[in-house]
Amino acid sequence: MADIFQDALKLMVGRVDETAAQLKGAFPHFADAKGDWTTTPDGDWTGGFWPGMCWLAARVTGTVRYRRWALEWAERLRPRATSDTVFRGFLFYYGALLGAVLFDDPRAREIALEGARDWVKTYNPNAGCFPLGDAAEEASDVGQGEASVDSVQGVALLVWAAAAAHEPAWRDLAIYHARRHIEFCIREDGSVCQSASFDPQTGVLRKRYTHKGFTNESTWARAQAWAILGYALMHQWTGERDFLRVALKCADWWLAHVPSSRVAYWDFDAPVGPDTEHDSSATAITAAALLKIAAALKDVQTRREVRAAAEATVRALVEGYLDVHGILDRGCYSKRINLATRNELIWGSYYLFEALGVLTRKIEAAKI
Ligand code: GLY
Repeated sequence: MADIFQDALKLMVGRVDETAAQLKGAFPHFADAKGDWTTTPDGDWTGGFWPGMCWLAARVTGTVRYRRWALEWAERLRPRATSDTVFRGFLFYYGALLGAVLFDDPRAREIALEGARDWVKTYNPNAGCFPLGDAAEEASDVGQGEASVDSVQGVALLVWAAAAAHEPAWRDLAIYHARRHIEFCIREDGSVCQSASFDPQTGVLRKRYTHKGFTNESTWARAQAWAILGYALMHQWTGERDFLRVALKCADWWLAHVPSSRVAYWDFDAPVGPDTEHDSSATAITAAALLKIAAALKDVQTRREVRAAAEATVRALVEGYLDVHGILDRGCYSKRINLATRNELIWGSYYLFEALGVLTRKIEAAKI
């Protein structure tokens, strides 16, 4: 186990303490170079990642206060169970399910189920998916006829909830949703388009497009990353082999196109110059997902290669993007609207923290 990962994990635990000291009941969203957080009162789409980091900190350190914080923040997510957004998956998977799975925490379990129960009602059987919803946290184009690959990760919550609530049909809906998004978002060559519009009555695909990428035809780094993670997780939770194949295909595309530094620019098709923004958060998502894929692969050679790619990616982030205060710098939230284009992003920090937990053998990649 390389010391560099151990040391980085320690720095990030320190950042969890620093973050906790700053928050006054609002959720961290993104931070500036000094480490000062811009927060959201209700958690926006990112509110699960902060309690998620607290659950991980509790697991990697064994310290009681992190578990207490995780639960306090998970409680604050409860009102979001009825928000009409597909991103309830992000909120309740990381905010609450982690506590149920890692600690068998009964309140975390109850909150995760609350998040799943209302969301599952929004399934559109004509389209075979959960739409973004009218209150989805995107720049525009939300509603009942819109879909995004960012939502595939979240349906893993429903697979867990199907077993926990004895509602086997929820698992099927989650699987249909993930499969429909292969048609919506995954291109023939393994690159990913973020979003799609469909007819809510017939389910027919109308167009593919992007909310945050360079163009509708380009490959936004986070779309690619969310697909790799979403299908890796859906394989992990369901055992369905096609999800692992999709995850690997998208991962292969990433590895073939990422710069030799291993850290992606914000969009794979953005013109590259000295000032082009990277996205450390997309890269962290991918690193965490590669560790899951490696854990799932049976072929020894491919498994070794994917694991080595994951380790090299984490190393690149730690060496070039993680500062001495445990801040993962230079994530790009939205270049299109110039929002937080060189910042610490709470989800990027979450995934690097998770990957470090796995690489230091404190967390099992295939468990969460
Ligand atoms: N909508 C999720 C993201 O911006 O990555």
